[in-house]
Amino acid sequence: MPVIHSENSLLNFYRASELHGGLILGQMVRRTRDPQLILELTRHSAEEIRHAQLWTETILEIGGNLAPVRDTYQARYVEAVGTPLSMLEVLALTQVFERRVYRHFTLHLRVPGIHPVVAATLRRMLEEERGHLSWVKHWLDEQAKVRGVEVRDVMRRYVIADQRIYDCLSTEYGLRWAA
Ligand SMILES: [Fe+2]
Ligand SMILES: [Fe+2]
Repeated sequence: MPVIHSENSLLNFYRASELHGGLILGQMVRRTRDPQLILELTRHSAEEIRHAQLWTETILEIGGNLAPVRDTYQARYVEAVGTPLSMLEVLALTQVFERRVYRHFTLHLRVPGIHPVVAATLRRMLEEERGHLSWVKHWLDEQAKVRGVEVRDVMRRYVIADQRIYDCLSTEYGLRWAA
């Protein structure tokens, strides 16, 4: 099954975005003394970087090529809402992103004629993304107990930005199945 150009670009975008996300989370480890948070961030970072590895292997396995990608989902967030700086901003944006990824990968998996290797990778990702969603949600819920308005506002702002970014990307990559 030949790899079409648009699919190759999309998979490279996934690869680059997983890596970028992992690097950001890894940097956040230095910003906390909370042992549980150190553990969760380190694990999450490692898994996103591993996802980048899995996409890299997937692209090679299906005969695609590793095109350099400077554009990532995270870079689009920065363009839209500025660089998230605090732990709350980074984790709120992570949660919005993870929800998006989960929905998007679920839709991608349903695309008729999807390459079986790509499908297998997506299935594996979805399993780990569930864990990412739940620990970050738990952390945000704890924060909301003491600064609920702040958490709600930042989430709302990011959800709006995310929808705009996703709509743009879906058009740019010609993803008629994205929603
Ligand atoms: Fe991931
Ligand atoms: Fe994730």
